Amino acid sequence: MSLQLNRAVFGDEADKGNVLTRAEAETLFNTWVLNTRLQLHMRQVGNLMKCWAAEKEGLDEAGQWRWEMAGLLHDADWDQWPNQHCRKIIEELEARHVDPEIIRAIASHGPVHFGVEPVTNMDKMLFAFDELSGLVHAYALMRPGGYEGMDVKGVKKRLKEKSFAANVSRDDINDACTRAAIALDDLIAFIIPRQALVV
Ligand SMILES: [Fe+2]
Repeated sequence: MSLQLNRAVFGDEADKGNVLTRAEAETLFNTWVLNTRLQLHMRQVGNLMKCWAAEKEGLDEAGQWRWEMAGLLHDADWDQWPNQHCRKIIEELEARHVDPEIIRAIASHGPVHFGVEPVTNMDKMLFAFDELSGLVHAYALMRPGGYEGMDVKGVKKRLKEKSFAANVSRDDINDACTRAAIALDDLIAFIIPRQALVV
């Protein structure tokens, strides 16, 4: 089964600036994603995207929502239609005339799988947060105190253990850091306290 999208253009430039309202996005999220673990993952990535947009990109609330929306919906079709991941959510957002920047970010969140390179900062950070967020959460679940007292060193140790959260691609994490030009330590340090708020 190939998930390659074999496309380079996503959305319509005429739709630039269009977003779903939070209520519309939540309805899509709750209808499409029934698996609560996946829901949490998507909410965590959405929150990290929002925090990054606010703190590092200096975007206003509307800009933050664009970033959050990309994170919140990036795996929306994975639960019920894994064979159509992420083609189905892309086509849905295109049909709803969503801003091409948001659709493109979702399309490029797995360059190896979908064959779309992350280009914009939104693309790159979605790719960077996706895998690492999952590993950090898996680590929190095995710690008695959860996120309490978690540090960068501990996360890096888990990263080196190939058997820990084995489905998390270490190659993707390293590749994403290189593309986003961010040190792994800095990315982990950004994720821990912010993700701790969405559990
Ligand atoms: Fe994901």
